[in-house]
This record gives sequence, structure tokens and C-alpha cells, in this order.
Amino acid sequence: MGRIDNLLTAMTLEEKIGQLTMVAASLAVTGPAKLTDATERIRAGRIGALLNLWGADETHAVQRLAVEESRLGVPLLIGLDVVHGHRTIFPVPLAETCLFDPVLWEETARAAAEEATMDGVAMTFAPMVDVARDPRWGRIVEGPGEDPWIASEFAAAKTRGFQGRDLSAADSLAATAKHLGAYGAVTAGREYASADLSERTLHEIYLPAFAAAVAAGTAAIMPAFNDIAGAPMTANAALLQGWLRGRLGFDGVLVSDYNAIAELLDHGVAGDIAEAAALALKAGVDIDMMSDAYAKGLPEALRSGRVSMVEIDASVRRVLALKERLGLFDDPYRRGATGAHATAHGASRRRDLAREAARRAIVLLTNARGVLPLSPDIRRLALIGPLAAARQEMLGPWASAGRGDEAASILAGLEAALPNCRIDHAAGVDITGDDARGIPAALDLCRNAEAVALCIGEAASMSGEAASRADLGLPGRQRALAEAVLDLGKPVVALVSSGRPLAAPWLFERADAVLAAWFLGGEAGHAVADVLTGKFNPRGKLPVTWPRSVGQAPIFFAQRPSGRPAKAGERYSSSYLDLPVAPQFPFGHGLSYSRFALHDLRCNPPRVKAGEAVEISVTVANDSGVDGEATLFLFVHDLVASVARPVLELKGVRKLVLAAGERGEATWRLSVATLGFVGPSLDSVLEPGRFEIHVGQSADPAGFLTGFFELV
Ligand code: NOJ
Repeated sequence: MGRIDNLLTAMTLEEKIGQLTMVAASLAVTGPAKLTDATERIRAGRIGALLNLWGADETHAVQRLAVEESRLGVPLLIGLDVVHGHRTIFPVPLAETCLFDPVLWEETARAAAEEATMDGVAMTFAPMVDVARDPRWGRIVEGPGEDPWIASEFAAAKTRGFQGRDLSAADSLAATAKHLGAYGAVTAGREYASADLSERTLHEIYLPAFAAAVAAGTAAIMPAFNDIAGAPMTANAALLQGWLRGRLGFDGVLVSDYNAIAELLDHGVAGDIAEAAALALKAGVDIDMMSDAYAKGLPEALRSGRVSMVEIDASVRRVLALKERLGLFDDPYRRGATGAHATAHGASRRRDLAREAARRAIVLLTNARGVLPLSPDIRRLALIGPLAAARQEMLGPWASAGRGDEAASILAGLEAALPNCRIDHAAGVDITGDDARGIPAALDLCRNAEAVALCIGEAASMSGEAASRADLGLPGRQRALAEAVLDLGKPVVALVSSGRPLAAPWLFERADAVLAAWFLGGEAGHAVADVLTGKFNPRGKLPVTWPRSVGQAPIFFAQRPSGRPAKAGERYSSSYLDLPVAPQFPFGHGLSYSRFALHDLRCNPPRVKAGEAVEISVTVANDSGVDGEATLFLFVHDLVASVARPVLELKGVRKLVLAAGERGEATWRLSVATLGFVGPSLDSVLEPGRFEIHVGQSADPAGFLTGFFELV
């Protein structure tokens, strides 16, 4: 018998349930390695996993309790939300998606894994791969935006990065793809609400990223808090057992979300804790995070026959298998090796990577009058707004072990980049709140400046979990501040820090330039300075469609055609009486200091069969005097099918670095197999017919080159 069989044979029911129980470290540890209430439960083998603990000494101290003082010595699984960096904080995932670069996505996850494992962590609750099409939903900040193809690329890259080549390596973290599924589709963008959507949309839009994470070998998956049409994900056997374990063959660990098993009572699908525990276990949920529902409910569920020992054993086996794959049995102290510290080893390399990721994540939304880059001769700049000197806010909503006092504010970044320029700073107003008394003093500073940089937006806590907003405008009195500054008639560059697109049409109209500065992490200020001064040519592209108004949400480019498509001036078309249908900025939008033009779309062969591929290419010319990077998007439209297909489906992205005046080719090999879709009977089908190909620099049809091919 192997180690796992031996352990299962030796374990009491309580010890088995212990392996399925994860509690917050604050219950077990307060302050460095000072142990409290849960200590005895760890010693008794009643807790098998902890979350929210890091630090080599801290993690080893609790690990010793399990390994050296419990009867069977099974090591603890220690998990943490290492979402966009651990000590070195990278841009929030929505911002990082703007890079459209799987290589960099993987590198930042690798760097985060290096740091978190030095701090004794073995598992991260990331990547978050929920497709999100409604900016009201605060968690849009944590994921890869609106498109399932990009979300899949992101899921695979992050999984590879966190887990490395070998999960047992001292610097590998078990990844957890979350939150399965359709969490981003919660009604009206309201956190924890129900999602009610078609099977087709579920399978085409929300599930592919999880399939990609499974294909990349993710160790774990977390079901979402929400229900789908009345079936809470934590008890959704059809999706967890049927689709995930059955169809995809996922044999890793399913870890519940925080207290989610107990919340099955609140959902109204379980009458007591034993029933909640039974529903979750039968759905395939292995680890109970913070409900204590398995500990309290499984013994009773077993006695009453609602679960079997075989089912409990199957979950315990999966948890032990993960601990084995992580190398925890061979050396439970391998992560957080003595003396290693997250700030040591490669810290400056990771900081450089954070700056690179951050400057590439910035999206230049408008630059109407060419005010950017700033003139190298600028001598007086006013830096106005509540986010100008902010440090902690730059880290975004999942800061892990990141430290605000080490983050570069926009003010600090510009001061370092412009030593010969006087920079006057005033916040003017707070991020939220009604106090506008600081506005006049801020205006005085602007009057004496050659240009104004306006640092406005949201607080980090206004996006992320439990941070849905019904209004997508600037909070507090920031609009009053911004409009007063704009009224002065000075050149104004607005830097918008936020975890979601903000609807502020007036700002895009009036400011000379606007940049989406998201929450860029520890190097935010330097990254912003690199872009403003022209040291770095901006190249970030929007991974979400940016609305003009909250009334357009949910909003995304992959619309179905409709029998009455939107037509300006035509009443009986799919439009609004009081708002254009077109977004403020399309998916993929993002300017640079270069200018690119597309020519000569080729599509060969013109007729293809199943099993073959079409080669698509386009010439890209840098028509400007500035070296830069172009991003090209390949979209497909299946013109006639048994179910209406979206007018645009993203199938590929290419990036070309082109010197001033240089031309290059972007080429895709589009395999016919990728043209399949969820057909009338919900099976995947590939139907012959004519396909339109569009290549553009964003999802704006005005910029497309279009071709065709035929599937015969
Ligand atoms: C709740 C969040 O939904 C989830 O994403 C996170 O991993 C857990 N809390 C643990 O912090």
C-alpha cells in the first residue's frame, strides 16, 4: 500500500474530516507564532489546512504542531490569496490583462510564487478567471475581463506561472482557478447575487477559462459563492461532478469559498448543517474553507446515510494527493526554508518586472491635442487629486504581503523622473466624502503651472469582493475638482486609478489626455512617470468594453446580431432612446505615441474542410516617427448558423514591435476546429458556411480589414 492508502486506513473519521477542514490562521495564530484556540485541533488532527498565514517562522511553527505533535503527522496545507503578487505587488489582474501577453502573465505569477513560497505558503487562491461584462461588479478588477478566449489564455499562463514545472519544488504554489462559474454574471452586477443564464452562455463564455486551467494542470478549483438559476455552485453536482470531474476529468482538489458550505442554509437548499455538508461533499467539494460544516455536519450525514465513507475517503484522498504532489510529506518545511526571506533573493529583479508590467498595463485612452508625452522642457507641473500621493491605494484590493509604505506614489514617480521640474501637489478633495474646501488652493497651484496632472479615481477598496457599485462615476467631490481644474484652460492630463472602467464622458471630452492607470502595484508611480515623460511608449489595450454610462451595462463586444440591429436614427432598432449604443471605448482600445496602419488582409485558402486551417495575415505599418508596439486582434463572424453567432468572436492576438517607419506582418493559423460552437442540442458542432474575418487594432468595426473564407 502507498502512503495515502496507509494513512486512510489509519485515520479515524475525525482525522479524515480534519483533512477536509481549512480555517483562517487568525484562529490558530495571533502574532508571530503565538498559538491559540485552534492549536489543539491541529494537534488532534482535526484541521488539515490553514489560510491567511505567511512568514517562514510563522508557517513553520504551526506546521510543527501538525507534523511533530499530531498522531499521524500529516502536514498542513497553507493557502493564501496571492492574486497579483505577494511582497512585490504587480498590477491588478484587470490591468495586467491589458498587456495581452501570456509570457509576462506567467512571469509575474512565477515571481509571486517565488516570494510566497519563501514565506512558507504552498497554495494560492488564484488565478481568478471569471469573465466579467458588468463593471458594476467589483470583482471585475480581479480577473481577465470580458472575453472567454483571453480568459483562457490568462488562466493557462497564470497556472503555469504559479505552479512552475514541478509542483513539489520549493518555489511552486498550487494554483486555484476560481470562482467556478458564472460569478461575473451575477444579476445587475450585485455581489453574491444569483446568476441566471443559458447553458450555451455558461459553456461558451464562463467555463472555457476553467477548462484551460484544468488543461494547464491546475491543482485546485474554487466554486463561486453564487447560485446559477437556483443551484448554488458549492452544491452544484451537475457542474462540479458532471462537467468538471466527469467531462474534463479534473481529479484535483475542490476548495469551497469562505464559509460557502454553511451558506447553503442561507441559499435555502439545506435545512441544517449536516445537509449542507452532505450536499457539498456529494457535489465533490473536498475542502471546507471556514464553515466548519464538515466537522459539524459530516458525522451526522454519515450516520443518516446521506453520505458514504467512500465519498469522504475520495475527498481525503484528493487532499492527501495534493499534499504529496506539493512535496509536503517529504519535507513540510521546504517552503520558507530557514533564513530565506521574501525580500531577499531576486527582489530587485521582481521590482523591475513590476515596473515593466505596470507601464505596459497603462492604457492611453485619449490624447486629443498631443499633450503627451510631456515636453522635456516642462518646468512647473501641478499634480492635483486625492490619488496623487497615495501609496497603499496603488496596491489595489489584494495586497497580500505588499507594503503601502514601499509603493511608489505618482508624486514620487514624477519627482524622480523630472528632477528639473517643480511639482506642486494638492489633493483638493478626498476620494470620497463631501468636503470641497481644498479645491480653491488646488486651483491656485494649477494657475501657476504649465500643465496639470489630475490624479483621480476610486479607492482600492471600492473594487474587489463586496464592492459592487451602482454608479460608475467618480466618487465624492472629484468631479467638482476636475471640472474646476478643466475650467482654467490649462493642458490637463487625467490619470484615472480604478478597478473598473469609470463612466465619465465629460472627462474624456474635456481633458487633453486621459490614461487608465488602474491599480498598478508597487511601481505604479514610476510606471506612470515613464509613460508621461515618453520614456516608455504606452501600449496597454482594454480587456473590457468601456461604457459611457452605467445604463449600458452589461456591455461587451461579442453581441449577437439581432433581427433589428442598432441603426442610428431608426426607432425600431436595438438601441436606446437616450444614449448611443456604441461604448465610450471599444474592447482593445489603447493609443500609443506611434501610429499604425493595417494593409492587405490575406486569407488562405479561401475554402477549407474540417481538420484544416486558414492562414490569415496582414501588413502592419508604423506610420509615425516613434518606435512602438502594435497589437492586432483577429475576430471571426460565422455568418449563417443554426443558432445566431456573435458578430465578433475573438480568435487571436498578435503584437509587433515596429521601429518608426517600419512594416511587419502579423500572421495567424486559424484551425477550423476552433470554429465549433454550442449547437441547438448543446453539443459542440461545426457547421459549414461562410465566415467573415476581421483584423483590427480594437473591436471598433471602423478600423477593420475584412476577408472571408468558406468551410465546406
Ligand atoms: C472569499 C473570496 O471570494 C475568495 O476569492 C478568496 O479566495 C477567499 N475569500 C479567501 O480569502
